[in-house]
Amino acid sequence: MEIIKVDLGARSYNIYIGSDILQDLGRYLKELPVGKKVLVITNPNVRHLYGKIVKECLSGAGYNVLVGEMGDGEEYKTMVTAERFYDLAYESGIDRLSPVVALGGGVVGDTAGYVAATYLRGVPLIQVPTTLLAQVDSSVGGKVAVNHPRGKNIIGVFYQPHLVLADINVLKTLPPRELRSGLAEVIKYGVIWNEEFFFWLEENIEPLLAGEAGSLVHVVRESCRIKAKVVEADETESGLRAILNYGHTVGHAVEALTGYKKYTHGEAVGIGMVVAARLAWSLDLLGFSELSRIEALVRRAGLPHKLPENLLLEDLVESFLHDKKVTGGNLTFVLPERIGKVDIRKDLTRKILIDFLNLR
Ligand SMILES: NC(=O)c1ccc[n+]([C@@H]2O[C@H](COP(=O)([O-])OP(=O)(O)OC[C@H]3O[C@@H](n4cnc5c(N)ncnc54)[C@H](O)[C@@H]3O)[C@@H](O)[C@H]2O)c1
Repeated sequence: MEIIKVDLGARSYNIYIGSDILQDLGRYLKELPVGKKVLVITNPNVRHLYGKIVKECLSGAGYNVLVGEMGDGEEYKTMVTAERFYDLAYESGIDRLSPVVALGGGVVGDTAGYVAATYLRGVPLIQVPTTLLAQVDSSVGGKVAVNHPRGKNIIGVFYQPHLVLADINVLKTLPPRELRSGLAEVIKYGVIWNEEFFFWLEENIEPLLAGEAGSLVHVVRESCRIKAKVVEADETESGLRAILNYGHTVGHAVEALTGYKKYTHGEAVGIGMVVAARLAWSLDLLGFSELSRIEALVRRAGLPHKLPENLLLEDLVESFLHDKKVTGGNLTFVLPERIGKVDIRKDLTRKILIDFLNLR
C-alpha cells in the first residue's frame, strides 16, 4: 500500500493506493475527524459489485451507513440527481460532520462530490474511485461538478476530498473499454509532465491493457503524484493547472457534438490529444517524431485518434469557443512542445483553427 499526500495546507489529504485495500476504508476513515453517520453514493452496477464490502467494513468500524443510488451514466450527472441526494441527506439527518463516500467512477465521484461540497455548505468528502479514469484523475484535485443541459461540468466548485482510496483490485471487473479510457488520462500525464513516464508507458502498454496489477499500481501512483504536484502548485486553475486540460478542448467538443453517446470521456480525450499534437506540429512547436510517438501510443492503447468524419468544422470551432477554457473571448489550447512539456497558448485565433481543421 502506498500513500501519496496532496499538500494543500488545511485542505491536505492522503491518497491510499494498493491492491485489496477496499475493506480497509473504515479503518482509514476513523483517522479523520468525521461523524458516525455516512452517506455512500454509488450506482446500481458498482453497488452490486462493491456495495456490500464497503457497507460491511464501514459498519464494522462503527459507522451508521446509508446508501444512495444514482443512475449509471453521464446523463445522470445532473442537478436533478443532486437534489434527490439533498432530500435523502435531509431526511436522514446528515450533519456537517457526516461524510459522503463517492463509490464509483468519475460520474459518481463528480456528482457525489458536488453534493458533498454544497450540502450544508460542505460536508466531508471521501473518494473511492472504481474506474481507472477516476483513480488517476477525477477523484484527485477537487474539481466536482454536474452537467447543465447546455454544457458539461458547467455547474461546479473546487472542493477537495478528505481522503482518496484507490484499490487496484476493483479494476478487474472493469470492462476493457473503460480501462482503455482511463489510459488516455494516463498518457496525458506523460505528455504534459514526464517523458520518462511516457517511455515507461510505451514499454508497458500491453501488460497494462491486460490488467496486470503491478503495472496498474505503477500508473495510478505516478499519475496521482503528477496530479498532486500540479494541484499543489495551482489549486484553482489560475495558471499551471490548465495543463491538465491537454486534449480536453477538442475532447469536450467531440463528446458534446456526438451527444455524449458515441465516445467515452477517455476516448474523446484520446482524439483530443492527437489533434492538439497535430496542431502543435502544424505550428512548428512539436517535432514530427514526437507527434508520431504520441499518436502511436494513443493507438496502441486502443483509443480513437481521429476526429469523426461527419463533424462540421464550424460546429467544432463554435464548440471550442463555448468551452470553459475560454476567457475574455480568447481560447486556451494546451499544446505539446515536446513529450514531457506543454505550453498553454492563449493566442490561437479562429482563423488559425479553421485553417488547421481544413487540412484534416
Ligand atoms: N473531476 C475531475 O477532475 C474529472 C476529471 C476527468 C473526468 N471527469 C469526469 O468523469 C466522468 C467519467 O468517468 P468514468 O470514465 O469513470 O466513467 P463512469 O463513471 O461513467 O464509469 C464508467 C462505467 O464503469 C462502470 N464501473 C465503475 N467502476 C466499475 C468497476 N470497478 N467494475 C465494473 N464496472 C465499473 C460504471 O458503472 C460505468 O458504467 C465524466 O463525467 C468526466 O467529466 C472528472
